Amino acid sequence: MLGNQLKIEAKPIDQPLTEPVDRLYLGGGIYNLNVDEHLKDYARNLDPTKVKEVFLFGTSGSVFTVGKQLTKILDKKHIKVSDDHLYLHGIMPKMGNINAHQKEEVAGFAKETVTE
Ligand SMILES: Cc1cc2nc3c(=O)[nH]c(=O)nc-3n(C[C@H](O)[C@H](O)[C@H](O)COP(=O)(O)O)c2cc1C
Repeated sequence: MLGNQLKIEAKPIDQPLTEPVDRLYLGGGIYNLNVDEHLKDYARNLDPTKVKEVFLFGTSGSVFTVGKQLTKILDKKHIKVSDDHLYLHGIMPKMGNINAHQKEEVAGFAKETVTE
């Protein structure tokens, strides 16, 4: 959904970045209070010379976000993390229960971040 709004193809994290990017949109869900280990590994393995700025996004059932854990990893690597992020709560996207307001938030986030 976010990829559509940004008019870019969303790629799974098992595909490493091949070319330098100005903006990397990185995100995922929260599982058992944690960011998925594969997502953390992806962040740990990012090449700081290839990424100018990371925009974080994520979904969770409750109030948790991927922000704290991923920002810690990216800070250590001196990769800039934008203050602008998108965290949606109370949803199970695979079940399609994202609401109209949340869809607007996705669209707003995409619009804001491309014009920054
Ligand atoms: C196995 C499992 C464990 C989860 N654990 C948590 C959790 O500890 N805290 C939370 O807020 N959400 C939790 N969730 C909810 C997910 O973070 C949320 O549904 C997320 O949007 C799922 O994204 P996905 O459908 O792309 O996997 C869990 C979901 C699953 C399937």
